[in-house]
Amino acid sequence: MITDKNIPRHIAIIMDGNGRWAKQRGLSRLQGHKEGAQSVRAIVRACKDEGVKYLTLYAFSTENWARPKEEVAGLMKLLVDFLKEQECELHENKVRLRVIGRTEDMPILVQSELKRVIKATSAYDSGNLTLALSYGGRSEIVRSARLIAEQVRGGRLKPSDIDEATIAENLYAPDVPDPDLMIRTSGEMRISNFLLWQLSYSELYITDTLWPDFRAEQFHEAILEYGRRRRRFGDIDAT
Ligand code: IPE
Ligand code: IPE
Ligand code: MG
Repeated sequence: MITDKNIPRHIAIIMDGNGRWAKQRGLSRLQGHKEGAQSVRAIVRACKDEGVKYLTLYAFSTENWARPKEEVAGLMKLLVDFLKEQECELHENKVRLRVIGRTEDMPILVQSELKRVIKATSAYDSGNLTLALSYGGRSEIVRSARLIAEQVRGGRLKPSDIDEATIAENLYAPDVPDPDLMIRTSGEMRISNFLLWQLSYSELYITDTLWPDFRAEQFHEAILEYGRRRRRFGDIDAT
């Protein structure tokens, strides 16, 4: 039986396969992203039903800027639409929105929508939705190193006092716990620069299902699989 202790507190997802989903149907890549946005809505909802408190979604990577201009513009527009459509539900379910990544690189309209919804939901704690936007794991660690260097230069920190907690405290969302489970859809066996620091001991679940086909049922299956894993953290089993 699955008990509460087997429910991951934090699930992070690499939402991959929108393009392939569209191609299989003779549709445009953007239509794939549109259907993918429906999966986002379904999974945010499923978190509440499953009792998952933190959800982090990889929505746009630092590398994704290299895609054709029209695709990038379409993704940005979808993001604004998503924020507008989702806002009501975030309030209803007391879900706090956060964002991690180089948001300063996003179009101004996206930045202002994000700022508005982040501020409006900042007091909530029933659920936590984090969007990784213009996000790269290496870039996040570089940023942390720079912030730490400033503290050393200002005399507020000694180099010998820098430890793992110092690095973690200077990441984008230090108050979010590390993911217990990382899901990647569409079968690729790679991390693609996602949460490099935080995934250190996460369980990995990779499914061939393409992101637009990944809904509550597939999410539930991933959580069941997580419940069957034994997380040893380098130790040996107790029995
Ligand atoms: C994931 O789907 C969405 C983003 C990276 C924004 P893809 O667009 O990468 O889909 P595939 O990998 O081409 O199928
Ligand atoms: C990872 O998917 C990034 C996001 C889901 C936002 P990609 O499709 O960009 O990753 P690669 O290119 O297959 O590594
Ligand atoms: Mg992809």
